[in-house]
Amino acid sequence: QVKMVKICCLGAGYVGGPTMAVIALKCPDIEVVVVDISSNRINAWNSETLPIYEPGLDDVVKQCRGRNLFFSTDIEKHIAEADIIFVSVNTPTKTRGLGAGKAADLTYWESAARMIADVAKSDKVVVEKSTVPVKTAEAIEKILTHNSKGINFQILSNPEFLAEGTAIQDLFNPDRVLIGGRETPEGKAAVQKLKEVYAHWVPEDRILTTNLWSAELSKLAANAFLAQRISSVNAMSALCEATGANVSEVSYAVGKDSRIGPKFLNASVGFGGSCFQKDILNLVYICECNGLPEVANYWKQVIKINDYQKSRFVNRVVSSMFNTVANKKIAVLGFAFKKDTGDTRETPAIDVCKGLLGDKAKISIYDPQVTEDQIQRDLAMNKFDWDHPLHLQPMSPTAVKQVTVTWDAYEATKDAHGVCILTEWDEFKNLDYAKIYEGMQKPAFVFDGRNIVDSEKLREIGFIVYSIGKPLDAWLKDMPAVA
Ligand code: NAI
Repeated sequence: QVKMVKICCLGAGYVGGPTMAVIALKCPDIEVVVVDISSNRINAWNSETLPIYEPGLDDVVKQCRGRNLFFSTDIEKHIAEADIIFVSVNTPTKTRGLGAGKAADLTYWESAARMIADVAKSDKVVVEKSTVPVKTAEAIEKILTHNSKGINFQILSNPEFLAEGTAIQDLFNPDRVLIGGRETPEGKAAVQKLKEVYAHWVPEDRILTTNLWSAELSKLAANAFLAQRISSVNAMSALCEATGANVSEVSYAVGKDSRIGPKFLNASVGFGGSCFQKDILNLVYICECNGLPEVANYWKQVIKINDYQKSRFVNRVVSSMFNTVANKKIAVLGFAFKKDTGDTRETPAIDVCKGLLGDKAKISIYDPQVTEDQIQRDLAMNKFDWDHPLHLQPMSPTAVKQVTVTWDAYEATKDAHGVCILTEWDEFKNLDYAKIYEGMQKPAFVFDGRNIVDSEKLREIGFIVYSIGKPLDAWLKDMPAVA
């Protein structure tokens, strides 16, 4: 009988959890164990309430948990038993020391690699699932081989391209699976081994194989290109507001060009999420280290425009309300960085709320998936501190007193002077805006940071409406915002 392949994944986060659940679902002949140093996270994966919200995830986990999918804190045991080890630990931006604010912090990755080197007793294929700087595989190889007692380790780069909010769909039907490996016979055999896992459900022509460095860099490049599209359309949105063009019409017309394509061209208050900013900063740092300042500056601009877009939004809110929001209640609808996720890492809502708090606003927040504790923690935290271990533990933040969090959009907007829509949750399209208007102070403002409401309808109700990149109301024209 052929020995059952065993997979162990280090890191039960947004990537490790869903990815491994889908592998387990699609490969009943493979045993998959996801391990983590956070027992809270593992307990949640083993409970009825999973630690992350992702459409379709509950269903997949229910089908395989206890069958061939397991969640455990016994890291050493499962590393020792596994044939293939995925590493999908967090790789945040360094907050101190060399490269602080730019370089990837590989502390967690390195300790994972050392752990593998310590406990492995048989040959392993080690798969980089985390997004890492180019050439990380070389460093990992050194750590593994320097400590190995004659064990053969093969390192592969298999970056993950799923998007939060559509992770399960993306994993079921990926545009491509990318596997980078050494071009030696052992390297090729390892690539083949991983290919066989994905071949259970991914068509052969979507499984791309490259050398290690191309695979590592492709992930950074893909995120840089995606973020660059958003910053490009957001830059245009500022010009649209200044000229009377409509950014939706512009991006529709631009996207009709088949060389450009229609996706990822929505203007908004800015991109967020754990990856875009950190991966671009990391790319910038690598360019600088390789003596390519022009290339570094080119990509840096993508982040600068994103920061500009967030502060432009805050300025628009403040300037249109007679240049002050001090002690005015502002309702914030949506705090997650995008719809269909509860993830708030680097969400533009953090910067917008901090900006409004800086002008002494009182903020009332509603998001269908984000808890008060999480919001308070996010607003109390310094930039780049998220994703570092302190914040993986529960801690009681010093609550920002000017902020309240509710579970109801109508309560959040009651008596507010303005409403800021910061996440494109579908339910925000269908709120009873006439009822909201009734309950608000007048003049009542809506600042639509995602262009999801019908601004004409809202104007008929009586609102003054700001939509990103759309022709301005007369009111807003009279109250110009300085970016
Ligand atoms: P996450 O923070 O949700 O999960 C990482 C997990 O690793 C945490 O639960 C942490 O406790 C655990 N961990 C840290 N050190 C460990 C160790 N030595 N042993 C075992 N577990 C350990 O992070 P997320 O979002 O899953 O991201 C992981 C990686 O995947 C990052 O490199 C990220 O850039 C990349 N990525 C993330 C995507 C996303 O949409 N979130 C998409 C594609 C890639």
